[in-house]
Amino acid sequence: MGENLNSKDIIKMTNIEKVYKMGTSSFKALDTVNLSISKGEYVAIVGPSGAGKSTLMNIIGCLDKPTSGEYILDGLNTNCSDNKLAEIRNKKIGFIFQNYNLLPKLNVLENVELPLLYLGYPSNKTKEKIKIAVEKVGLDKHIKHKPSELSGGQMQRVAIARALVTDPQIILADEPTGALDSKTGKEVLKMLTDLNNEGNTIIMITHDKEIASHAKRIITVMDGKITSDILNESQVGA
Ligand SMILES: Nc1ncnc2c1ncn2[C@@H]1O[C@H](COP(=O)(O)OP(=O)(O)O)[C@@H](O)[C@H]1O
Ligand SMILES: [Mg+2]
Repeated sequence: MGENLNSKDIIKMTNIEKVYKMGTSSFKALDTVNLSISKGEYVAIVGPSGAGKSTLMNIIGCLDKPTSGEYILDGLNTNCSDNKLAEIRNKKIGFIFQNYNLLPKLNVLENVELPLLYLGYPSNKTKEKIKIAVEKVGLDKHIKHKPSELSGGQMQRVAIARALVTDPQIILADEPTGALDSKTGKEVLKMLTDLNNEGNTIIMITHDKEIASHAKRIITVMDGKITSDILNESQVGA
């Protein structure tokens, strides 16, 4: 591998550090993180509580900036204004959170539509995209339901549809099965595997090794550093 930009790298992090300042003290939550992820990968980032997973996810997802180091996302340098960073985030990343983060007053259709409206789509242009995303997660019969009228598994499927609807470069899932029973969790993991098999790049954050074992590459973070980065033979080529 040369030092030039490898065009297959959707993520390229070089010497990323994140320091949290608390009054007069400071804490280094990420320390010299170097990480490249290619288009189409399915990566799990694992590590114990406090390891720095959420800090890393926030930087990958352009929700926060590193203190130092360089992060290139799909060829774009993320060392830019907050407005520009938000634009990159809306265009490039689809988020799936442990607690779904759906808006309770909006129905399924409206929740899935939101990222498109953020991107500036006029509402008469969003219908077809919403339909495709909602069908993909099998919720076409529930489009008028509010989150409170859905099960946990259904809410997470809405969140997956919302993550997909913009055709993002990366799907970033933070403990996506953390609030689900194991059977429903398996369904969500199956959906992520299917999405990856269709070519989507998936990065999943989890503290659970069993859940991580569904990914094709497993990266371990400890005390703010990447301590291991392995191909998961049981999934690669499966
Ligand atoms: N906003 C913050 N201010 C100060 N310290 C923080 C902040 N966020 C996280 N930390 C600290 O950074 C370390 C890593 O946190 P985090 O990234 O949330 O880990 P994980 O998600 O792996 O549990 C922890 O020691 C945590 O206390
Ligand atoms: Mg965390």
